[in-house]
Amino acid sequence: MNSVRRAGIVGIGSALPEKVLNNEYFESIVDTSDEWIVTRTGIKERRVAVDGECASQLAARAAEQALNNAGISAEELDLIICATISGDMPFPATASIVQEKIGAKKAAAFDLSAGCSGFVYALTTANSFVCSGTYNKVLVVGVDLLSKVTDYTDRTTCILFGDGAGAVIVAPTDGSHGILSTVLGSDGAGAELLKIEAGGSRMPITVEAIETRQHCIKMAGSEVFKFAVRIMGDASLQALEKCGLTPEDVDIFIPHQANIRIIESAARRLNLPPEKIFVNVQKYGNTSAASIPIAMSEAMQEGRLKPGDVVVMVGFGAGLTWAASVVKWGISANNGNSV
Ligand code: ACO
Repeated sequence: MNSVRRAGIVGIGSALPEKVLNNEYFESIVDTSDEWIVTRTGIKERRVAVDGECASQLAARAAEQALNNAGISAEELDLIICATISGDMPFPATASIVQEKIGAKKAAAFDLSAGCSGFVYALTTANSFVCSGTYNKVLVVGVDLLSKVTDYTDRTTCILFGDGAGAVIVAPTDGSHGILSTVLGSDGAGAELLKIEAGGSRMPITVEAIETRQHCIKMAGSEVFKFAVRIMGDASLQALEKCGLTPEDVDIFIPHQANIRIIESAARRLNLPPEKIFVNVQKYGNTSAASIPIAMSEAMQEGRLKPGDVVVMVGFGAGLTWAASVVKWGISANNGNSV
């Protein structure tokens, strides 16, 4: 008989491409300036994949680091969930390709599409599988290489995105550590605000679609911005309330790294001081589904995310979707030092 139990993050890792694109590069290809990009977004540089570098490669690197941190082998994994909107191919699932790459022979595998909210959606899904007793060890990867689907003639989007992957292992935990609450949401009325129009069943790829760059990201930036400012605060507060906590209980806030102005407005809503907010958008831009796990991994490496800390993570993205989670952190950067 399955029984409800608590799940937690028992290992974490991340992977980034080596190539760096700074704001000066964008000054040379579109009508923009370092000053505009920094003031409006907080971004100074981002990492982008080179030709031949793909989602499953970065995902597998992040996954191996997370397995190492958890002190478990790939063969022990029961399930792999890959949150991505820029997988290796429309199908098969990138999760299946990652499975082969890391040698997770007995794992089931599927991809999940929720834009930049994808990582917390996938974490929530893994949490349910583990809490129900269906699975014991689930690999969750957030990976996106949006540089591959960005229109580098569109100054309103091309300056925003970077590539990367972040991974966690979700497993049963003892004591008070673990995933305390999750909140997921979607408003399909905003589906057209952020999309890649061509390449699906509604508009298959044609020469005309490519000529008009419909195979690249299109975004109504200021509409998405207004939505993000409202939803990041709302979803964080809902997730805290769901587990009986308040913003005063938060040790570290790890929001989706899309725009420093969105992050700061969410932090103001929660009344959090700057030292409780983790920001790395200046280095990586918006890495979509990878941004939260990359930020968590970096926060832990820097000693800003420690065992016992209450962390709030929150994201928003295509759909439009949103997702938040409160986690009592249980691991450190030492290998195999899981809860
Ligand atoms: N350089 C210079 N000027 C620019 C640039 C640029 N790179 N981009 C836009 N502008 C101009 C616009 O053309 C506009 O000019 P106009 O007034 O002459 O028309 C002016 O700047 C203001 O444009 P806004 O769009 O109002 O600028 P805003 O302050 O809203 O910033 C931004 C734009 C950064 C895109 C912001 O809207 C934003 O961050 N939106 C949220 C995007 C996001 O985070 N999406 C995440 C989801 S991604 C996913 O799920 C895959």
